[in-house]
Amino acid sequence: MKNKKILSRQDGRAKVTGAAMYTADYHIENLVYGVLVGAEIAKGTITAMDTRAAERSPGILQVITHLNPVDVPGYASEKEAMEGAASGNPLHILATPEIHFYDQPIALVIADTYERALDAAKKIKTQYDREAHKTSVKAAEAEGRLPAGERMKDYVRGVADGYKNAEVIVDEEYYHPIDVHSPMELANTIAHWTATDKLHIYTKTQGVEDTQRVFSTLFKIPAENVTVDAEYVGGAFGMGLRRWPYELITIAAARKIGRPLKVVLSREQMFTNVGHRPETKQRIAFGATKEGKLVGITHQATANTSPYYDFTEATLMMTQYMYACPNVTTRYRIVPLNISNPIWMRGPGEATGSFALESGLDELAYKLKIDPIQLRLINYADQDPVKNVPWTSKFLKECYEMGAEKIGWKNRKMEPRQNREGDWLVGYGMGTGTFGSSRAPASIQAILNPAGELYLACSVNDMGPGTATMMATIAVEQLGVQQENITVKIGNTNLPAGPTQGGSVVATSVGAAVYDVCLAVKEKLIDLAKAQGHVLTLENVTFQGNMLQLTGENAKTINVADLLSNANLRHIDLTINSKGPEVKGSKYSYSVHFIKVKVHALTGQIKIDHAVACADGGTIISPKTAASQMIGGAVGGIGMALFEDLVFDHRFGKAITNTLADYHVPVNADIPHVDALFVDKKDPVSNAMGTKGIGEIALIGVAPAVANAIFNATGKRVRSLPITPEKLI
Ligand code: MOS
Repeated sequence: MKNKKILSRQDGRAKVTGAAMYTADYHIENLVYGVLVGAEIAKGTITAMDTRAAERSPGILQVITHLNPVDVPGYASEKEAMEGAASGNPLHILATPEIHFYDQPIALVIADTYERALDAAKKIKTQYDREAHKTSVKAAEAEGRLPAGERMKDYVRGVADGYKNAEVIVDEEYYHPIDVHSPMELANTIAHWTATDKLHIYTKTQGVEDTQRVFSTLFKIPAENVTVDAEYVGGAFGMGLRRWPYELITIAAARKIGRPLKVVLSREQMFTNVGHRPETKQRIAFGATKEGKLVGITHQATANTSPYYDFTEATLMMTQYMYACPNVTTRYRIVPLNISNPIWMRGPGEATGSFALESGLDELAYKLKIDPIQLRLINYADQDPVKNVPWTSKFLKECYEMGAEKIGWKNRKMEPRQNREGDWLVGYGMGTGTFGSSRAPASIQAILNPAGELYLACSVNDMGPGTATMMATIAVEQLGVQQENITVKIGNTNLPAGPTQGGSVVATSVGAAVYDVCLAVKEKLIDLAKAQGHVLTLENVTFQGNMLQLTGENAKTINVADLLSNANLRHIDLTINSKGPEVKGSKYSYSVHFIKVKVHALTGQIKIDHAVACADGGTIISPKTAASQMIGGAVGGIGMALFEDLVFDHRFGKAITNTLADYHVPVNADIPHVDALFVDKKDPVSNAMGTKGIGEIALIGVAPAVANAIFNATGKRVRSLPITPEKLI
């Protein structure tokens, strides 16, 4: 990483001083406030609602229920509703008396202050006709069915269930409960109709362009009439990838009452209304030779969806391509439960799938008495076994090596319970991660002024990884501008169109666009210089923000200010659209996670002692923010392994760990030192810099690494997350 520019966060000061404006921070004249009231049954029908006391409360403007529904033109037909809702949540709340899940909004109470709306919301009385509900995949697994459409059909390579013919077999079931994103910043929307057909919204989203498309479709107005603002996003982990019913109803209600309206979900509603990682039961079976060569893998998963949409995720994809294995079978099933729709949560399906795949492989390693890393190397896929094409780049062996060295893998004992420090049992575990690395089109505007100050703009969002910093880093390297002279504008539909922040695509896509626009700026400067009599080419110039330094026999300095004023230009202003090349081959990122754990022999207390996250994410653009991505992913993975669990009281179909006090996530005391290591080698096709994504691989493979380390320490194989102390004693 020699000569690499290492920038601190472009928006760090704004964030820590409170200057950063998150969407709910905006105030608009005449703003009113809405509070959503949730259903108190998990399935059934509303038979009566008494809203009179609420309506008589001070400051109340309106109470909206299914009895006086708001108008959403795009919901006139189910087809339009599905298209408008963009494969997430075609549930029109407050439109019918039907209840699909506990805490489904049944009323929106609008008042002149938030407190008055909250007070009135408590006065609504509702009666229901209850029906039997389902809130457990475990209980309803037998009802699992194929999702609608072709995408998730069963996959067979070679012989179906070919593992059965092998000498050595491991066949086990794995389980994890519902995990919830619940980021620090609550879901929130401010809807402001500036004219009857013009909408301005501030809303928590990972994609302003997608949000604009969905709401312009549903309200049947031109896309350019919808402005979406989300400059700062206080975490999302995937819950901002889809538009939610509460957003739609906020926008419709704002139009009905003719006032700008703000709705912020409560923390409890964050656990019930804006997505989750679905509860998943998996079965994984491996067949291998005594030497460790895989003969067959069968991997099955059954996960929950909602009653109104077939949500699916790529739980079984990794198993299809990760290892060289002639016979692979995968079967994916879903069970509709009376829970709101799931949505991808960081690492999404691959994080779930890797728990079974990488834990199961660990079980096989013990059975064969082969080192788990060695077992993976024996079955290393030198090309994509699904498509039979080469990888564009794969530096996974390097990840195994550097991680093993850093964690001290040589100190691991092959047999469990052999490593002890007093009452503490010590264990080592590892797990592999992988995720497709794709590149989306991105447009960027760049303005360079005579003083060498640069403005970069793209509509892309940043939910936290540091998109603006990544963009600034490329500009510093390419144009020699100083970080303090760079202004980056993101997160608004008025800016050139960028991708949604999701699926680990942003650094590769927007990064490439920044690189390309910087190149266009350089070429423009060179053209200006040539037109003014200078002799130069791209190769013999270094750019230093406000000047060009020529090397070689024509060595001299040219001021950008002179170039511009001689050409009668105030600045250089270019907007380009950057698209990826046609990719031949399969393009994936890889990670290996290593965990050293200590488990108390008497109490089962678990202490993560050391975590090492190694990534092949191609070239690393911004070392600081990339490392913080990897650390954040490790924390998320440790949470998935040891803490997170949306517990239901199935008698009522109600989520009961629906606060941050009850739903456990790791705190500082739970997290040891995390080393983030990068191979940092170029992918030859992704873009000029050679980047691949790291957002998802930061988490994929962490949970099995923790589970495998705990087995190595204790000899106890826990196949059901979270792994809590009582499961170890
Ligand atoms: Mo990520 S689950 O693609 O936000």
